[in-house]
Amino acid sequence: MKAAVVGGGPSGLFFALLLKQSDPRHDVAVYERNRLDTTFGFGVVFSDATEEALAVADPEVADAMTRRCHRWDDIEIHYQGRVLTSTGHRFSGLSRAALLEVLAGRCRDTGVRLCFEREIPDPESLAGADLIVAADGANSAVREKYREHLRPSVDVRPNRFVWLGTTKPFPAFTFYFKSDAHGLWRVHAYQYEPDRSTFIVETTEATWRAAGLEDASEEDTIAFCEKLFAAELAGHRLLSNRSIWRSFPTIRNERWHWKNVVLAGDAAHTAHFSVGSGTKLAMEDAVALVDALRTAGSIPEALAAYEAARRPAVESLQRAAQASLQWFEDTERYMRLEPLQFAFTLITRSLRVTHENLKARDPAFVAKVDAWFAEQAERLSRVSVPRDPAPPPPMFTPFRLRDLVLENRVVVSPMCQYSAVDGMPDDWHLVHLGSRAMGGAGLVFAEMTNVSPEARISPGCAGLYSEAHATAWRRIVDFVHARTRSKIAMQLGHAGRKGSTRLSWEGDSEPLPQGNWPLLAPSSLPYYPHSQLPKEMTRSDLRAVLEQFTRAARYAVDAGFDLLEIHMAHGYLLASFISPLTNRRADEYGGSLENRMRFPLEVFDAVRAVWPAGRPMSARISAVDWVPGGVEPADSVEVARMLKSRGCDIVDVSAGQTVPEQRPVYGRLFQTPFADRIRHEAGVATMAVGNISSYADVNTILAAGRADLCLLARAHLWDPYWTRHAAHELGYPLSWPDPYESLNQYRPRFT
Ligand SMILES: Cc1cc2nc3c(=O)[nH]c(=O)nc-3n(C[C@H](O)[C@H](O)[C@H](O)COP(=O)(O)OP(=O)(O)OC[C@H]3O[C@@H](n4cnc5c(N)ncnc54)[C@H](O)[C@@H]3O)c2cc1C
Ligand SMILES: Cc1cc2nc3c(=O)[nH]c(=O)nc-3n(C[C@H](O)[C@H](O)[C@H](O)COP(=O)(O)O)c2cc1C
Repeated sequence: MKAAVVGGGPSGLFFALLLKQSDPRHDVAVYERNRLDTTFGFGVVFSDATEEALAVADPEVADAMTRRCHRWDDIEIHYQGRVLTSTGHRFSGLSRAALLEVLAGRCRDTGVRLCFEREIPDPESLAGADLIVAADGANSAVREKYREHLRPSVDVRPNRFVWLGTTKPFPAFTFYFKSDAHGLWRVHAYQYEPDRSTFIVETTEATWRAAGLEDASEEDTIAFCEKLFAAELAGHRLLSNRSIWRSFPTIRNERWHWKNVVLAGDAAHTAHFSVGSGTKLAMEDAVALVDALRTAGSIPEALAAYEAARRPAVESLQRAAQASLQWFEDTERYMRLEPLQFAFTLITRSLRVTHENLKARDPAFVAKVDAWFAEQAERLSRVSVPRDPAPPPPMFTPFRLRDLVLENRVVVSPMCQYSAVDGMPDDWHLVHLGSRAMGGAGLVFAEMTNVSPEARISPGCAGLYSEAHATAWRRIVDFVHARTRSKIAMQLGHAGRKGSTRLSWEGDSEPLPQGNWPLLAPSSLPYYPHSQLPKEMTRSDLRAVLEQFTRAARYAVDAGFDLLEIHMAHGYLLASFISPLTNRRADEYGGSLENRMRFPLEVFDAVRAVWPAGRPMSARISAVDWVPGGVEPADSVEVARMLKSRGCDIVDVSAGQTVPEQRPVYGRLFQTPFADRIRHEAGVATMAVGNISSYADVNTILAAGRADLCLLARAHLWDPYWTRHAAHELGYPLSWPDPYESLNQYRPRFT
């Protein structure tokens, strides 16, 4: 095979080396526009795991890298005059120049043709090659040439950063957070040689502009940063190497190959430098591409197999990198946190490191976090938290809202059962909610319960519009109170234009074929084109619905619920007032956000007035509509502020389901960032929900201060005893109810 590699960075050189090794008859050439010794940048970071993977691919490269690496275990965080250290992270730094020298040396030894100072402006000039590998970096000319087939996208991030070096050795991976008159500056610094470290300075665009760095030359940048970080540099100089201020581009491609051309490394995908994985990804691509070429029957098959094999891991890392870069874009938000919590949220920012795996790396650090968290919980809940022999994991600390104290931070999220007749909860609801309360969650939510027959989503939806309903609910509430340690919440809702539909398993949001009831909405817009047309609400409709909510709230008081939530999410009636996509009114209930919030707040006020002052209230909102022109996360901060000012104690932060054309970005904990933002920016307690399923994630969310409570829905359908299982795994068993007392001696075994 004749292979032409464009670009002599880590991906191009490593690929060339491995391909030549796999069969010396291959003719492999690398075209690099620069000389070997003119590399940009300074050092790169590797983890132990990456080094082990590379050692399998080429032990000699791995050995040479190991000899030249600088190793460290610690992360040091300089914040508000304090230095916080966490250990056990096992990273190494290597100069980029040294890495390229090692790779180029091995390429030469194995017979790869290295053509330095050879720019390939147009890949058509390599037409004689059987395979063209585009390893030409983030600005890949090859990718641009074939962009209509590869369909790249570039997400240019708002922060500005400059990659500098310094002679100062750093004993740990070091983060500085330093404010000056212009704003907050972040530094990511790590050593890669005895007297050389990488020193990346990052800030927001506003701070960068305020500091007048728009037209800064390299000399200006060095002078500015040396002055700003004089104390941190302690007399050491900063070094530049084409060090210009840039915005990070996250690059993705819909396809990684076209005919005999294939993308590798940064040309295919980038991952923000704060997860330190760009070089690792580039080298792993090389390994996977050579594996595919070795085993597939033809080059096109190999390229398809390579993309299929690599894409999931790359996308997963890009998701982690996205979470990480957003943390650095939003760092100002966290600057009021206690130092220990700030450090914890920084270390766990990408979601890859959790409370549990950080505990494995650095038990002492996590013990301090847990002790601090337990102290806060004790102070705020006014309930003593035993800390001997160890503080409880964050999820098992108490939480207070007004007079309500929850024993732990796990909540069963509201879930419609579509099993009621005429709105009446029955034995199904008793067993469903009762068993989940027995399962140990601190709070169990009843499903969306509707304030009138016409407010129901489906004929199977539960209601709270008669005394008989209140009595039936009372039976369930009494069971939870008498036989479990859980508390129980009611979620009141009105389906609006999403009402009069089939049971969810017969077709989600699909209109009933017969037996429909009239629908109400802020504007007369159907959900689907084929959905029933709702009536635009008149003043008297608004008054009537407000009275229905108030009546239902009174019944909820009678039934004895501990917390009352108003459903303002998922495109139901109150949500459809909030979203500009569904509210097109010209009166004072439409238009600005303030106007669109008018009716939801009137309902909230009316309900708050009849709900006992000692009992808390929450509202569930959709923090984003996932559609341009819809509700955006910044609007939701305003919504949360308005709710807080009306006596809402905690905001339940969900997302989407407003309109069917939404384009949600799903993933693990995908809605938690909205709860985090609202909690910090609106200064109100939040509940996080959405793809939270492990206790590691629950502990991490809580300890990092991303939310105050975690709601799990499907995980609780799967396992009503989720909280007890989590407690068992964490070595923090909960006591069993008396009839199950024999379990105190029982050791479950599942395999
Ligand atoms: C500030 C910053 C910090 C980073 N820190 C880390 C880190 O700590 N750890 C880590 O793993 N990664 C880090 N990275 C990312 C890392 O540098 C890249 O992900 C990695 O270099 C990608 O390797 P590559 O071979 O795909 O591309 P590159 O290293 O960019 O190599 C591409 C090569 O192609 C050459 N080239 C381009 N066009 C042509 C052409 N037309 N003809 C011939 N040659 C051409 C270029 O000169 C270049 O040598 C960082 C990146 C930045 C910007
Ligand atoms: C069967 C089912 C019924 C649901 N019913 C409701 C509901 O009544 N009210 C509500 O606000 N959300 C409802 N949801 C959404 C969940 O409360 C939760 O927000 C969502 O499932 C995401 O959480 P998860 O990833 O833990 O499942 C329902 C979800 C499921 C799976």
